[in-house]
Amino acid sequence: MKVTDVTGDAGVKETEEESKETDGNLFKDILNIRHNELNNNKIFKDKKKTTSDYIPSKLPGRENECNDLASVLSDAFRGDIPMNIFIYGTPGTGKTSVIKRVFDEMEKFQRANKKSNVEVITKYINCREKATSEYQVVLRILEDGRLKNIASGDSGNPNAQGNKIYGDKLDGLAVEKLYEFLEKVLKRGKIALMLALDEVDAIKKNSDKDRVFYNLVRMNSDLNDDSENREEYNFNTGITIISTTNDMKFKEKLDPRTRSSLSKKDMFFERYDVPQLEKILEERVKLAFYEGVVEKSAISFAAGYVKKTYDGDVRYALNLLQISGEIAEKKGKPKVTYEEVKKGCDVLNVDTLNEWIKRLYRHQMIVLYAVADAIFKKKYKRLIDIQPDAILSGEAYESYEEKCKIIGEKPKTMRWFREYLNDLQKCELLALSESGKGIRGNTTIIGVGKYYTPKEVVEKVEKLLFGDEIQKEKEEKIEEKQKEGTEEKI
Ligand SMILES: Nc1ncnc2c1ncn2[C@@H]1O[C@H](COP(=O)(O)OP(=O)(O)O)[C@@H](O)[C@H]1O
Ligand SMILES: [Mg+2]
Repeated sequence: MKVTDVTGDAGVKETEEESKETDGNLFKDILNIRHNELNNNKIFKDKKKTTSDYIPSKLPGRENECNDLASVLSDAFRGDIPMNIFIYGTPGTGKTSVIKRVFDEMEKFQRANKKSNVEVITKYINCREKATSEYQVVLRILEDGRLKNIASGDSGNPNAQGNKIYGDKLDGLAVEKLYEFLEKVLKRGKIALMLALDEVDAIKKNSDKDRVFYNLVRMNSDLNDDSENREEYNFNTGITIISTTNDMKFKEKLDPRTRSSLSKKDMFFERYDVPQLEKILEERVKLAFYEGVVEKSAISFAAGYVKKTYDGDVRYALNLLQISGEIAEKKGKPKVTYEEVKKGCDVLNVDTLNEWIKRLYRHQMIVLYAVADAIFKKKYKRLIDIQPDAILSGEAYESYEEKCKIIGEKPKTMRWFREYLNDLQKCELLALSESGKGIRGNTTIIGVGKYYTPKEVVEKVEKLLFGDEIQKEKEEKIEEKQKEGTEEKI
């Protein structure tokens, strides 16, 4: 074979034959494919609008809730401090979206109708994100840019001239000091603060939850005690708390003293029904897909499936819509039909399983692992003729103890174990049922949730439990901290 000099700039030597063979195909292929992709990519117009991070300006199915919330909060523009609002609802019922939407409108209205004697400031805090204690909540409020400006004494606000109330260094001060700052800054700015405490149950200690509500609400009476504001400006300074929770008993858990000081309105967000889900998806389709790409039957199928499988949690519906679009895209199909959605459901299931498992505490994960693994490996035979894909609770605990030993964890007591079983049932990772006839004694039969196979669960959990030791340490720390909070409740 003759070796000719076809050395290019990169200095790679090859024969003439070889040179012909490759002919730069590597890049040609890639670019061709990309070219095709670009040409056929007529599916998504703006893909990020299918995600559940995006909050559209229209919220189908939540028009009344938006109106109700706005109507309570409108008192702020009349010079009164609106009632506190508790919003209840399971995840994916639009609580966060409604608050953010209404806050946004409120800010816009405020800007367009500026009156000198009233300044409404909305502050959204998701308690799960760095606001899991009383201290952090107050800190997050004070960190608000506009409040800081007013505190600095030289903001554009004509009411807010004077000495500096507080600066950047807040962390480390006593919480009483923080409340004092907040009171001063609200007073100086003549501010009606609309404070959203989203996912308020993420505040870990019950005593902290109590104190947050008690102290913030009490501040309203302190602020208006001298009634100087009221007479002079016909306007009340103060705070309204809009909190969300999926715990229907949240309020009952507050100290009676706190509860009685709260003037309040409750709002309940029901799960979305099929027509509402369809409407939400239709609107999203208009924003995210090219016209005519997504068939109506595909939307109906997705809405029906998510209602049935995920109790109408809209986040899954959006996720499914996106996955289905991606499937059509990959296959080079011009349309998203119910076929793509059907295929998307399987991907969605695996996705969800991952999501759920990732959120579990370590021992919940071990319990799940112990059950799924024992069933998968057919470790116990007592139910084999009655229910081959399930085990008895005693067997499950035994298997849990064994797994703990392997992993090097101390098993929790039977009481905790039962708690974990219930938690796992709630998110449908496990299915529990009472034993009927045919089994001696009254015991619980445990199987893996209906959407997953034991094998799938074992694989996912193993990956998480053994895949990354650093992850393990992180989780342990979180769990420890969470436990500190729960221990208090018992
Ligand atoms: N009525 C609705 N219309 C359109 N999109 C919605 C609606 N409700 C929820 N969503 C979408 O679903 C996502 C999750 O809803 P979210 O408001 O966070 O629910 P929750 O706070 O009750 O868990 C939102 O970010 C938004 O993208
Ligand atoms: Mg939310």
